[in-house]
Amino acid sequence: MRHDHLITSKQLSRADVELVLDRAAEIDREPGAVADRHADALLGLLFFEPSTRTKLSFETAMKRLGGDVVDMGAVESSSVTKGETLADTVRVVEGYADALVLRHPREGAATMASEFADVPVVNAGDGAGHHPSQTLLDLYTIRENAGLEGLTIGVVGDLKYGRTVHSLAYALAEFGAQQHFVSPESLRLPREVVYDLHQEGASIREHEELADVLPSLDVLYVTRIQRERFPDEAEYREVAGRYRIDAESLAAADDGLTVMHPLPRVDEIAPDVDDTDHAAYFQQAHNGVPVRMALLDLLLGDPDE
Ligand code: NCD
Repeated sequence: MRHDHLITSKQLSRADVELVLDRAAEIDREPGAVADRHADALLGLLFFEPSTRTKLSFETAMKRLGGDVVDMGAVESSSVTKGETLADTVRVVEGYADALVLRHPREGAATMASEFADVPVVNAGDGAGHHPSQTLLDLYTIRENAGLEGLTIGVVGDLKYGRTVHSLAYALAEFGAQQHFVSPESLRLPREVVYDLHQEGASIREHEELADVLPSLDVLYVTRIQRERFPDEAEYREVAGRYRIDAESLAAADDGLTVMHPLPRVDEIAPDVDDTDHAAYFQQAHNGVPVRMALLDLLLGDPDE
């Protein structure tokens, strides 16, 4: 890849995406072939916000490539509580590890970290900003289920604070997808994202009712209302539970509809959807491993060179 750091999906061309997805597919078919490929590599995990899938799948990915991780652990048990700055933490840990994965509540944190690190930095979520490695596994899942050509996707829920949404939207623009964004007025896509997407010539439309677009969709990408980002709890309660998908509501959808969710879900998708052929969210979470293996492999480079 042309880039040392992965901060936002905006930096990924269609060719970059295809390179990662093709490598991931290769690894998925024959994981044993790369089992010792990065035997000396150490991945630094800096998670300043909760995570289950992202952190565990990066850890699994590094170990499945033969390497290991150094993990800062919970913020409460790190020197952050003594007042250490992010810049200093990064400058120290980059000396221990061959690449860093950072999740942080502040937008722009990963960009800043990349300025202090000589090793590749992967942004695993910066506030309501971006989450590009999630996008890669989302694209991998879409490619497996619906294909990336001629795609019509509906993205529903918290489009304002949902960083997975922002990252996915930029990447899908590269593939010429028709994107329908469904949310309450107060949780629409940030205007700067809409502006950028228009500049890219992306085909996007905004809606308040899912029923208006559901029958036309190949993929429905459901998101959690990002409660932790709301300045006011009352505002959260106003929009919580607004879009709830269950097996009955999907009767209006195409039989081939793929339902995705970056997880964790709260109550956006009822458990009765899990048993339908639509559900792809657990497969999506599992895809995090081969996709992050491919990404790490490309960022770490050829170990024999
Ligand atoms: C997402 C995130 O952290 O942005 N989770 C994830 O990485 N799979 C989505 C969310 O928290 O709702």
